Amino acid sequence: MKKSICFLCLLFVFTLFQSTMAKNDEKKDIFVMRQKIDNLIKEMTLEEKVGQLTLFTSDWDVTGPTMRSTYKDDIRSGKTGSIFNAYTAKYNYDLQKIAVEETRLHIPLLFGYDVIHGHRTIFPISLGESCSWDLSAIEKSARIAAIEASAEGIHWTFAPMVDIARDPRWGRISEGAGEDVYLGTLIAKARVKGFQGNDMSAPDSLLACAKHYCAYGAAQAGRDYSTVDISQRELFSTYLPPFKGALDAGVCTFMSAFNELDGVPCTGNKYLLDEILKKKWRFAGFVVSDYTSVNEMICHGIVADEKEAALLAFNAGLDMDMQGATYYKYLPELVREGKVSIHQIDNSVRRILEMKYKKGLFDNPYLYCDEKREKNYVMTEEFLSHARDIARKSIVLLKNDHHILPINKDIKTIALIGPLADDRENLIGSWCAAGDWKKSVSVMEGIKSKISSSTEILYAKGCSISDTDKKGFKEALEAAKKSDVIVAVMGESASMSGEASCRSNLDLPGVQKELLMELKKTGKPLVLVLMNGRPLTISWEDENLDGILETWFLGTEAGNAIADVLFGDYNPSGKLTVTFPRTAGQIPLYYNMKNTGRPMDEKNKYTSKYLDVPNSPLYPFGYGLSYTTFEYSPLTLDKKEMSLKDTIKVSVTVKNAGSVTGEETVQLYIMDLVGSVTRPVKELKGFKKITLAPGKSGTVTFEITAKDLAFYRKDMSYGVEAGDFKVFAGTNSSEVKEGNFRLTQSGVIQE
Ligand code: NOJ
Repeated sequence: MKKSICFLCLLFVFTLFQSTMAKNDEKKDIFVMRQKIDNLIKEMTLEEKVGQLTLFTSDWDVTGPTMRSTYKDDIRSGKTGSIFNAYTAKYNYDLQKIAVEETRLHIPLLFGYDVIHGHRTIFPISLGESCSWDLSAIEKSARIAAIEASAEGIHWTFAPMVDIARDPRWGRISEGAGEDVYLGTLIAKARVKGFQGNDMSAPDSLLACAKHYCAYGAAQAGRDYSTVDISQRELFSTYLPPFKGALDAGVCTFMSAFNELDGVPCTGNKYLLDEILKKKWRFAGFVVSDYTSVNEMICHGIVADEKEAALLAFNAGLDMDMQGATYYKYLPELVREGKVSIHQIDNSVRRILEMKYKKGLFDNPYLYCDEKREKNYVMTEEFLSHARDIARKSIVLLKNDHHILPINKDIKTIALIGPLADDRENLIGSWCAAGDWKKSVSVMEGIKSKISSSTEILYAKGCSISDTDKKGFKEALEAAKKSDVIVAVMGESASMSGEASCRSNLDLPGVQKELLMELKKTGKPLVLVLMNGRPLTISWEDENLDGILETWFLGTEAGNAIADVLFGDYNPSGKLTVTFPRTAGQIPLYYNMKNTGRPMDEKNKYTSKYLDVPNSPLYPFGYGLSYTTFEYSPLTLDKKEMSLKDTIKVSVTVKNAGSVTGEETVQLYIMDLVGSVTRPVKELKGFKKITLAPGKSGTVTFEITAKDLAFYRKDMSYGVEAGDFKVFAGTNSSEVKEGNFRLTQSGVIQE
């Protein structure tokens, strides 16, 4: 006994020694880095410093309204210390060579790019991928994207986009993780970890960038770049948490948003950039503007000219100007006029140089320009296999009457109809980095490789995505009449979502719905495979079609993944991370709304509702069917009361009541019945996946602690209030089993 205690003591001392040594090494590294950078800063002229605060685009890709054909001269003359929209090992090597060999201090460039959902191997658009609710698979996508992009000279991705979005009119809803704060925060963390990996100086790691800071998703009327006016409580409760999550996961950079917040554009918003991000959260990386968002403060009407814009942004805490050239043009003058301090300039330069240092660029500026790696680590079998896996996991089965799906592989004739059925170009979605659509697998190809040799496919495009020509209807109807099942592949084009791609009407565009109506008249079983970057209003489709598969834009392996699901090689398990409204008039519509003083009551006119449409969504948050069915038992709670330090265990037993194995995402929601400020009707606080064979049951247990009950109270302190709570567990945010418990104490909780 004594001996083992001694051994444990020794082990403890040894571990302590090791961790102290590791910490000392880390401190030494930081000391060496700081010394090197401080010495460098001492040598730099003011103009050279401001060059480091400037980011210009190359002309390889167009991701904004202005171009700069002089970027090579800009590098040479030290006007810019970073470049974006340039990639491939060779191209970036040549640009790096200019910076390293032709500038006075040989400071290497940092290369940025929008690597959002894959670089060469393209994964589902971010919103689609979030519907997998699979954090490790999501992290893996980001990891692979980092491996591919870093092999092509890229150091820094402008991702993840962590904006909570609740307005499907806004095209950029496609770039985020949906409407929920809890899930959005977990996904933000997973993506940061995936992009950055464990070691920032590893040649396969990317600096991540949490964008768009902040509340860009709350753009009024769902119109891009539009005004945002929300309460401070809403900012803290809904929009900031994913950014804080990204920060906690170690994100190295932030991007300021285009929008204004409470009358001040985010790019010049000292409260956001300095007070919250740098002071309260102690963010040590750097903040970059969005594309010309410094200059755009003139149009916002908060500054009169570019010089004032540069002053406002820089003094607010914005370290780097993307593409606007305002810092380069005006900061030296502003320093000389005493309006900007040189100390502050040095501080921002230091933040940027530290990132270059951490990426190992001072040791080897060409570390990421390795043509061999570029050849060997792009679109590998492993990457493509993950692309297929995550694509299947992202598909959401919205409707499946009479088990129309899966389709038998031996079926005699399939009518494959629609503008997206034989399409590759749209499958990789918007923001597809260096993805090559020609390498993606179409639905037609996916189906062909799946079906039996005796199955016939009758293909007819029928119509295009958006125009109103109905000439193709005839051919489509003829094919449909001869078939045993119709698979219609329809939706939006990739460019209908993403930046500057908002819609006021969320129906299927063009004459696609009319074609569906005609197909319906044939009386043949009719399945709709949807591709889109946002929730669509598909009430008619839901009422009239036999099956609906939501597939978003699934990326390189889209066609294979869709065929896997259509023919039952994969049982769909995706769950919506965003509410589908019945009509655009219901927007904004999200699951965790407030009750109001007059909650909807059908029998009482004077309650909160519409005359022409129910309040409920078409498909709620968390919704998604499977080829099997799951039955939920009532909830059990291990106690009915908890104090601040307690944990309550909530359990629910789920049974696979169907005939195939399936995976269910069991969701946990909580409602605080009475608060010092009104509380949402439900908030997601946990989820667990369970795979069950037919007839089998499994019990899922969640642990609730005080942290799960915390919110920004009346005085904006973060904490809990004693009182009654409801707890729900279920298959989606609407279909749940319910229990209740009591919290006996109030108290402050660490944010
Ligand atoms: C503008 C977009 O808002 C942002 O998300 C993107 O990273 C930059 N352009 C750079 O392309």
